[in-house]
Amino acid sequence: MEHIEPNNQLNLFENNEAMQNVLMEQANEILDTLLDFKAIMMYYSAAIRRLRTKLEILNTEFEVKYQRNPISNIQSRLKSQVSIMEKLNRKGLPITKESIEENIHDIAGVRVICSYVDDIYRLADALVGQDDIELVVKKDYIVNPKPNGYRSLHLIVRLPVYFTDGTHYVTAEIQIRTIAMDFWASLEHQIKYKKKINNPEVVAGKLKQCADIISYTDIMMQNIRKEMDDEQAEDADLAEQLYEKLKRFDVTLGE
Ligand code: GTP
Ligand code: MG
Repeated sequence: MEHIEPNNQLNLFENNEAMQNVLMEQANEILDTLLDFKAIMMYYSAAIRRLRTKLEILNTEFEVKYQRNPISNIQSRLKSQVSIMEKLNRKGLPITKESIEENIHDIAGVRVICSYVDDIYRLADALVGQDDIELVVKKDYIVNPKPNGYRSLHLIVRLPVYFTDGTHYVTAEIQIRTIAMDFWASLEHQIKYKKKINNPEVVAGKLKQCADIISYTDIMMQNIRKEMDDEQAEDADLAEQLYEKLKRFDVTLGE
């Protein structure tokens, strides 16, 4: 066994302590970076909650006015830290707080499923028209579907979230589509990620055909609703009109 002189023993102890300090400082820096990241994610999570509330309020307003819910379902998700890193890497961008905030617009993601196509636009206009919502990008894949048949209205918006240290402006991606468009997008997404497809072109062609049929159905359903609305408005006698108004008192206000 190596013999260490008392003097050297002291040196070794001091070195060890210095090493420990370096390691602690490094750990401290890493934890600071992770906590910065946690703070950013908190802003995005708050933005999701603000958007969900705004959409729920619009849904209730619509119900009180027209006895019909334009929104069938709201889904939201916070992009995982792994997906954020993966996207930055894929785009060859630096992994910093600034780069995340500048380049990744879908960390806060909200998907709104509507009953009818015209509800999508009514809802989008009402949301974007609010004072604290800034429209950054609008991609209308309903008027201009993707070549594979994908349809949805995508909005990138910027909105403030309020904390004790001040106001933070956060971007979020909102996808708005009908139940039918969502049905297609969900299944297409599953099929796309299947490991082995024997005839990818044939499958893509069939999926596109389904998307077009679904779009046609959406328009038909909307026309049926419009015709019913018009008929009801024309034929309703006074008693029916009163009854329609009374029904509006039954709407739960979400309190
Ligand atoms: P990233 O794909 O997120 O880098 O953004 P982008 O600029 O390409 O935006 P785009 O609006 O094309 O797509 C954003 C999101 O819309 C995707 O992450 C999907 O959730 C959805 N989406 C877009 N295209 C398709 C599609 O062809 N099929 C399905 N199922 N979803 C799609
Ligand atoms: Mg894309």
